[in-house]
Amino acid sequence: MKEFKRTLITSALPYANGPVHIGHLAGVYVPADIYARYLRLKGEEVLFIGGSDEHGVPITIKAKKEGVTPQDIVDRYHNIIKDSFAELGITFDVYGRTTSETHRRVASGFFRKLYDKGEFVEKTSMQLYDAEANQFLADRYVTGTCPHCGNPNAYGDQCEQCGTSLNATDLIDPKSAITGNTPVLKETSHWYLPLDKWEPALRHWILDEHQEWKSNVYGQCKSWLDMGLQPRAVSRDLDWGIPVPVEGAEGKVLYVWFDAPIGYISNTIDCVGDDWEKWWKDKDTRMLHFIGKDNIVFHCIVFPAMLMADGSYNLPDNVPANEFLNLEDDKISTSRNYAVWLHEYLQELPGRQDELRYVLTANAPETKDNNFTWTDFQQRVNSELVAILGNFVNRAVVLTHKYFDGAVQPLGELLPPDNAVIGEIGSLKLQMTEALDSFHFREALKLAMDMARAGNRYLQETEPWKEAKTDMARTATILNVAIQLCANLSIAFEPFLPFMSAKLVKMLGGDRITWDMLGCFDLVPAGARIGKAELLFEKIEDDVVAFQQEKLRKTVEQNMLAAWKPEPVKEDVAFDTFEKMDIRVGKVLECRKVPKSKKLLEFSIDDGTGTPRTILSGIAQSYEDPQVLVGKEICFVANFAPRKMMGRESCGMILSAVNPDGTLTVVGPTAEVRPGATVG
Ligand code: 2FM
Ligand code: ZN
Repeated sequence: MKEFKRTLITSALPYANGPVHIGHLAGVYVPADIYARYLRLKGEEVLFIGGSDEHGVPITIKAKKEGVTPQDIVDRYHNIIKDSFAELGITFDVYGRTTSETHRRVASGFFRKLYDKGEFVEKTSMQLYDAEANQFLADRYVTGTCPHCGNPNAYGDQCEQCGTSLNATDLIDPKSAITGNTPVLKETSHWYLPLDKWEPALRHWILDEHQEWKSNVYGQCKSWLDMGLQPRAVSRDLDWGIPVPVEGAEGKVLYVWFDAPIGYISNTIDCVGDDWEKWWKDKDTRMLHFIGKDNIVFHCIVFPAMLMADGSYNLPDNVPANEFLNLEDDKISTSRNYAVWLHEYLQELPGRQDELRYVLTANAPETKDNNFTWTDFQQRVNSELVAILGNFVNRAVVLTHKYFDGAVQPLGELLPPDNAVIGEIGSLKLQMTEALDSFHFREALKLAMDMARAGNRYLQETEPWKEAKTDMARTATILNVAIQLCANLSIAFEPFLPFMSAKLVKMLGGDRITWDMLGCFDLVPAGARIGKAELLFEKIEDDVVAFQQEKLRKTVEQNMLAAWKPEPVKEDVAFDTFEKMDIRVGKVLECRKVPKSKKLLEFSIDDGTGTPRTILSGIAQSYEDPQVLVGKEICFVANFAPRKMMGRESCGMILSAVNPDGTLTVVGPTAEVRPGATVG
């Protein structure tokens, strides 16, 4: 394997059309930060680039909806995103933005160089146009049916159901997202990057030279390459973006996916100034792109083709893309507001950054889509962070204070359990290093937790509280080992739980930690006085979980109400058809669940005849407690032909209204009416 002198880490620039959520964090930013922190602990030269992606149609659509400018939208979200990343401890060396002056200059310059080299093909074609809005429609400005999977809500650039990348003109029955009108075709010209020209080079570079890439990434690239690459338009007819720097290109801007990855370069320039080329062009620098799976094609095919066309840049060494994180078994969605938003989490669970980082890493979608649930969050925090890691450190520190007034004692003779635990930490370190080097962060975190487990086991086996009754020298040795173990944990967990690690380092009186120190058992010198035990983690109580679950439930309910439309009115009926229905008012005398049936309620109704009428109705799932209906006046169809259900005869049909969530509400008169009265 080639040795590199330094590593440039980029993480996908999130669109500044909303805050970031746990799906972004688990897929991209937490793993990128773990890796950056790990390399820094190893003393390596690292540059970690982040920033907001501030162009693209979703931003202009949101601005239009809110009646503000796109700049207002990106200013708002750029700041929310930047601040929340910082609070979560994501250690970007720079967090830039694609509306910056540097970026405009760099992206224009990049385009212009390729243009001057003749790397683009200019083509005229028919594109969708909204005549009322006076605008060409591309990307998210147009929705329609996906020609591949039939999803009726596919976008003009991608179908989110089957993941296929589309051209707006591919959509069946396209509709403008601005006016809802059916667009017409109108001629326009654009610049295309001929990906087909780069196909052989890309094939060789990925399929032959990068077989070590994660299988999800390699597989997606292979299937793109096997389908054959087509020229891709790199400009758009829009008024939000970086103007195409060519005479006669008025009204055209760079396609967002052309300018966004160049943002990594601009942000590097903003961070290190003239030194930037060392990070992008020196063969001793390796570049890693941390992204989610929907960005694979852009980072493994389109951006590398742009870099190849320029000819002076390095290509990425690896692209450790993750799959998606779901939330409570449903897709996370910015547009549906269905997410755990980072800035809200930080407000609602203050001081609990490491807990989120822990759960998102322990459950990271590294090889397949995964699911986040609040009960799993609670369970992992309480039974792993509190009960294993926090508990071990607390015991070691409290016992050192109890028996030695907080002073670390000299090591005496080492006995088998001591040697065993020291050996175990050494071997776990080797495994952790291997896992981290190959981007297996879940595994690495599990191994770090195994170190804490080893600590608990060690105290259980050596029982220093018993030794203290007869042998203080032995107690001293055990607690020295335990404190060294705590110091090891502060290192092993630093990339994952940086807040806990800093607290622990301080508690142990240390200052600097390095990866080299992991596995050593002389980290806290004899004679050092350690600080008082501070709780590293606290339990997540049930009410916190319930609050978050309720918040999501309300979002789902609001979305349902917002999406609800009355059913279309049925075909006309003549009066005499209507008159055949004998609808009446009845009073509910009794109402109970039918045993062994999930759906049926049995009503006994006073229908005015003096003999109670039995009606069975399939509404049990809408009435947890059927007693609430007793005494109520309701409407029923009296001449509905009798039917047998669950061995009972039902004489009539109860009328109910269908709610947006599918539940049913029995309907009745608005004022008291005599049972048996007809309705018509
Ligand atoms: O998918 C996204 O959120 C894009 N904004 C990612 C861009 S990554 C890079 F190219 F900037
Ligand atoms: Zn599709």
